[in-house]
Amino acid sequence: MVAAQSGAIVEATELRRTYHLGEPVHALDGVSLSLPRGSFTAVMGPSGSGKSTLMNLLGCLDTPDDGEVTVGGQTISGLSDAKRAKLRGTEIGFVFQTFNLMPRLTAAENVTLPLVFNDDVDVGRRERAETLLERVGLGDRLDHAPNELSGGQRQRVAIARALVNEPSLVLADEPTGNLDTETGDEIMDLFGELNNSGRTILMVTHERHVAERADRIVHLVDGQIQEVEQL
Ligand SMILES: Nc1ncnc2c1ncn2[C@@H]1O[C@H](COP(=O)(O)OP(=O)(O)OP(=O)(O)O)[C@@H](O)[C@H]1O
Ligand SMILES: [Mg+2]
Repeated sequence: MVAAQSGAIVEATELRRTYHLGEPVHALDGVSLSLPRGSFTAVMGPSGSGKSTLMNLLGCLDTPDDGEVTVGGQTISGLSDAKRAKLRGTEIGFVFQTFNLMPRLTAAENVTLPLVFNDDVDVGRRERAETLLERVGLGDRLDHAPNELSGGQRQRVAIARALVNEPSLVLADEPTGNLDTETGDEIMDLFGELNNSGRTILMVTHERHVAERADRIVHLVDGQIQEVEQL
């Protein structure tokens, strides 16, 4: 649901995350970031600079060692696992570089998979998948399996799936990383449309021309924000 509220959808303050696998790695070292509703933010930085770690924390897939994440006004650390999962399922849509579709399910079944965790929707699943797949230009591919689709088409299915619960926030970790330039540009057009329709987007990318579709670029280096570039 795109709330008619103003202000930030996500507030992160002084996030720290250290991985203890051999030598401790300070993947995030005091990152504060606010995502205004309806904004489009790109995150760039060298490999290992903490981009995916940041996405996972903001998306409630992981919890910080220190610092605080607030999503839609709710402080994550204060929530039970069940409530956190519910918040993640209803407020946030995820898109990954490797699409992460279930190989044995059709496009339509992949799209409606997240509804398993949403008790509010028990009818009209097929219709919902149809509407979303039409929206991403795949109205004629509902019953195809992922291996019967091109890379760009698979990412479109993943985007439709990310939208199935009508999240206000879409987090995308290198969504064009496995696509050729032309297909990547088409996927970026789709993200542009989502943003125009009011969704807040945070996207990691290695490509400058992709990042330039956003309102601003957050540059991460060694787990810290080096610069926030307004576009
Ligand atoms: N689960 C983990 N266990 C241990 N170390 C990890 C784990 N995940 C990430 N790291 C380490 O934390 C650092 C930051 O990783 P992260 O995945 O956030 O980087 P990234 O900026 O997304 O890099 P890339 O551009 O290659 O995707 C790296 O040094 C990485 O090796
Ligand atoms: Mg990464």
